[in-house]
Amino acid sequence: MFLVTKLRKSFLMRVCLTLAVVSLLWLHVGVFIYRGAEIDFEHSNIELAKPTNLTVPELMEKITIENNEQKIWNSNHIPWPPVNETEIWPKGIVITIQVHNRISYLRKLLRSLSQAAWIERALLIFSHNIYSEELNDIIQSIPFAAVMQIHFPYSTQLFPSTFPGDSPSDCPRDINKERAVAVGCSNAQTPDLYGHYREARYSQTKHHWWWKVNFIFGKIRALRHYDGPVIFMEEDHYVAEDFLHVLWLQQILLKGGSKCNFCNQAHILSLGSYPKYFNHREASNMVELLPWSSSKHNMGMAFNRSVWQNFQKCSEMFCSVDDYNWDWSLLHVAQKCLPSLFGEPANEKGKSKFILGALVLKAPRVFHIGECGVHHRKASCASDTSTLRKAETSLRSARKAETLFPTTLRTKNMLGTKAVRLKKGNGGWGDPRDRELCLSLTVID
Ligand SMILES: *[C@@H]1O[C@H](CO)[C@@H](O)[C@H](O)[C@H]1NC(C)=O
Ligand SMILES: *[C@@H]1O[C@H](CO)[C@@H](O)[C@H](O)[C@H]1NC(C)=O
Ligand SMILES: *[C@@H]1O[C@H](CO)[C@@H](O)[C@H](O)[C@H]1NC(C)=O
Repeated sequence: MFLVTKLRKSFLMRVCLTLAVVSLLWLHVGVFIYRGAEIDFEHSNIELAKPTNLTVPELMEKITIENNEQKIWNSNHIPWPPVNETEIWPKGIVITIQVHNRISYLRKLLRSLSQAAWIERALLIFSHNIYSEELNDIIQSIPFAAVMQIHFPYSTQLFPSTFPGDSPSDCPRDINKERAVAVGCSNAQTPDLYGHYREARYSQTKHHWWWKVNFIFGKIRALRHYDGPVIFMEEDHYVAEDFLHVLWLQQILLKGGSKCNFCNQAHILSLGSYPKYFNHREASNMVELLPWSSSKHNMGMAFNRSVWQNFQKCSEMFCSVDDYNWDWSLLHVAQKCLPSLFGEPANEKGKSKFILGALVLKAPRVFHIGECGVHHRKASCASDTSTLRKAETSLRSARKAETLFPTTLRTKNMLGTKAVRLKKGNGGWGDPRDRELCLSLTVID
């Protein structure tokens, strides 16, 4: 009897241990294989939009028509550009939101946008990765701002089994090159920096970003004469009610002059960042001039057409650097291409003087409420409720103290004090087909 129990016990122990090891391994793998904005949602209870039932050719036709038509919803009662004069955003403001399929987050974002001051002067441009009638219904019924939808025309939904989607003849991600060459898969010769082969669901995010910015500045007729900033957001962001007010103050600082004599070195306005602690009661009027950092200032960033034209001159580098992240690719551009563009030779230490400056808020007005992993780097990783709760707590206390909607911003120049180190690329972009597609998306006007 004793023996049996002992045996059973050790058997149970073994089972438990195995389970523990397996789950640890699973977690480990889960952390490491995670790349890009595609997440395994099977175990989370967030609501996802159902994709359309249209066939690929039907969808292709629809998307071509809609991207060409550029319909503005609400234009009857909320004309865009706005017709009446206001002190803030007299010519309107443009907000783009890249949308995948996470309806729960999108609803929260929309609710927060609906409560923001000046939102009725915004054109919201939703850039879709997936065509879904369910998403269309939500977006087309937004009552508080002018709305446009555009559709990424090279999504995996449109190319389910050919490039830029994954094709059966492509090499699996983890096969080694020798074996890849032996089995003769199509892209055997071009693994990435780390020896991996492309995965469409990761590469499509960078393509989408590049396509979207090109389309917005180059192809959208309603924006032809717009020279203000364009704000870039994603479906799992969340805004404070004074984000457009604060952006306006930042925008004024850009001109430099007596309000801030160093601020004309900024090229990017950043509304978000991922600080561990923030306090809107204390810091709602503080802004710092910092070197733009891909991992810190990629959320709620804004820049205008003239800044974009400089980025665009570096499209060759953006599209060829072996990194599937648009933000890291842009950092590469900022450090390796823009300096030469601005004709500033590197100094004796090989360091260039040009720095892509960003005006960054001490107390963020755009928050990332998406699940861990959406921005795939630990520093920016926070669970849904914790960031949202932290943000709401901080905002509530600032509301009570009436420190939101500051009348002026206090500035601090940190441009020379902090350096952003350029790391080796993150890979995922070794395939020449990705480089070519990316380059072909560049719209020079
Ligand atoms: C797609 O088809 C399924 C099954 O026929 C149906 O249940 C679903 O409602 C359809 N979805 C849309 C968006 O039409
Ligand atoms: C002008 O726009 C502002 C802000 O959107 C609004 O509050 C105001 O009622 C508008 N005025 C007129 C005359 O339409
Ligand atoms: C666009 O941004 C740049 C850099 O921040 C700034 O110098 C320029 O004045 C802005 N252009 C307009 C039209 O506001």
